[in-house]
Amino acid sequence: MDKTKFNNNDEILRKYGEIASCFENLSKMFEESYELNLSNIIKYYKSCLMKLRDLTIIEKSEEIQSILMNILRDAKSQQQKIEGALLSNSRDGKEKFAPEVKRRKVDQSNRIKLTMRKPIGNGLDDIVGLENVKTILNKSVLLPLQFPSLFTGGRRPWNQILLYGPPGTGKSKIAHALACEAKVQFYSISSADILSSWVGESEKMIKDLFEYTRNKEERCIVFIDEIDSLCRQRSNKEGDHSRSVKNQLLIELDQNISYNCNSFVLCATNCPWDIDSAFMRRFQCRIYVPLPDKNSRLQIIKNQCKEINTELTEEDWKEIVNRTEGYSGADLMNVTTYAIQEPLGELENSGYWIITDDNKWMPCTSETDGGIKVPLGLVPADKIAVRNVTMKDFAKAILITPKTVTTSEIEKYKQFSSDRG
Ligand SMILES: Nc1ncnc2c1ncn2[C@@H]1O[C@H](COP(=O)(O)OP(=O)(O)OP(=O)(O)O)[C@@H](O)[C@H]1O
Ligand SMILES: [Mg+2]
Repeated sequence: MDKTKFNNNDEILRKYGEIASCFENLSKMFEESYELNLSNIIKYYKSCLMKLRDLTIIEKSEEIQSILMNILRDAKSQQQKIEGALLSNSRDGKEKFAPEVKRRKVDQSNRIKLTMRKPIGNGLDDIVGLENVKTILNKSVLLPLQFPSLFTGGRRPWNQILLYGPPGTGKSKIAHALACEAKVQFYSISSADILSSWVGESEKMIKDLFEYTRNKEERCIVFIDEIDSLCRQRSNKEGDHSRSVKNQLLIELDQNISYNCNSFVLCATNCPWDIDSAFMRRFQCRIYVPLPDKNSRLQIIKNQCKEINTELTEEDWKEIVNRTEGYSGADLMNVTTYAIQEPLGELENSGYWIITDDNKWMPCTSETDGGIKVPLGLVPADKIAVRNVTMKDFAKAILITPKTVTTSEIEKYKQFSSDRG
């Protein structure tokens, strides 16, 4: 080393600055990479140590020199630990890291594990109607999985899609159905989960999840529900915490697009108008999930009535469908649940029973010919027969269960779709 160059204090100070940033970079290398590249870290560590050794030699004050020697000694022993970890990694093929490195990996993988879900359902056939939504998802997720060779060069599949629409129209169900259909790993998280974390943890959760899924070899689906509460329009009044969470999410969404990675991000919201335009822009496709039309309403109710004995004519079904105009899928499920439970309520109230030819016990009134008075608790459980569900049950259910989405809300969605959808 040319020591003459270091006669002047400015040069020595510069050397101190260089070493400080060297160690800062090292700590970033530990912090930022999910899969730690130990060989790279060791190489960089060595070059930092060389610089530190040179500085120890040129430092004029003996006192400071001895402090630097101590730092050098500690840093060398740290370097040896990492080298040891790398050696045992390559020997038995298992992950063995210095304790602090291992802790970080465990924290990250725990955070990611919390978002892993087993999707519910069988596939896209679970979804009634919504043909355009299924077509887009098919094109963006299923087709690239089946024919990856079609999606090379400039032809990239969309990998960030927003589903918006009134509550209960099946947005969450679509996410599960898609993951089932694609048979890929499903990560699901709601904005409320992210925001309820400690300050600083929310950003880490977003960063870890995106970094991990982006680097995966296999395709996967990341579902973020209630995205509006995470991406509200930015304002001067908002706190630092919420601003930095948004910034982190913006960074991750950007990287997801530019890496053309295997992670497909699906987000859902009831309030698309609350979403900041910076986020809106990053959804390559925004799909409106509307209330079910006539045919879909019929299908949703009929699906739930499978294996239930009903006494409903074609006219009755038409009537039910007409009377449930404006009901969401979730509303329809509530109506049907109520209607098919009605005959069960009568069992409890009935004190009289009639025994049928096939030895079943049917509830009846005191006036029924052949009716016998027996409390419900004494009726053989496996012999109880329930009467069929009728139009009267549905009429009562519809009366008691009003629709939850108003006409003015629907207008708001339509307006949004024509302006920004
Ligand atoms: N098109 C549909 N096909 C099948 N089931 C549906 C459909 N729409 C709604 N449902 C049923 O309605 C219920 C609510 O659906 P889901 O939770 O997916 O709605 P959502 O749009 O996510 O609501 P929210 O916006 O309140 O989160 C579910 O039980 C689902 O089975
Ligand atoms: Mg939902």
